[in-house]
Amino acid sequence: MRSFTITILPQGWQFTAEAGTTVLAAAELVGIRLLSSCRNGTCRTCICHMPEGKIRYTVDWPGISPDERLDGYILPCVAVAESDLTLQARAVRRT
Ligand code: FES
Repeated sequence: MRSFTITILPQGWQFTAEAGTTVLAAAELVGIRLLSSCRNGTCRTCICHMPEGKIRYTVDWPGISPDERLDGYILPCVAVAESDLTLQARAVRRT
């Protein structure tokens, strides 16, 4: 199974996400907690900027506008990596 390296800025923490695992879930598997609430792409609590990388969504209508997508924002609770990627996360702590 393919996996990708995800880097969290500004800390520079890195972890691996297996193909098909959401970015949020992959982070939690290694003890990194991103800000989240609904975990289904509607509340936007988890929104963060992705300077580099490519993702796809696990839901048809994630709560993010076309402009936000163009500006590089993603919802990691419903985003699956399709390349190595870098995230500027709003709140992160190691559990
Ligand atoms: S946690 Fe609600 S949109 Fe991601």
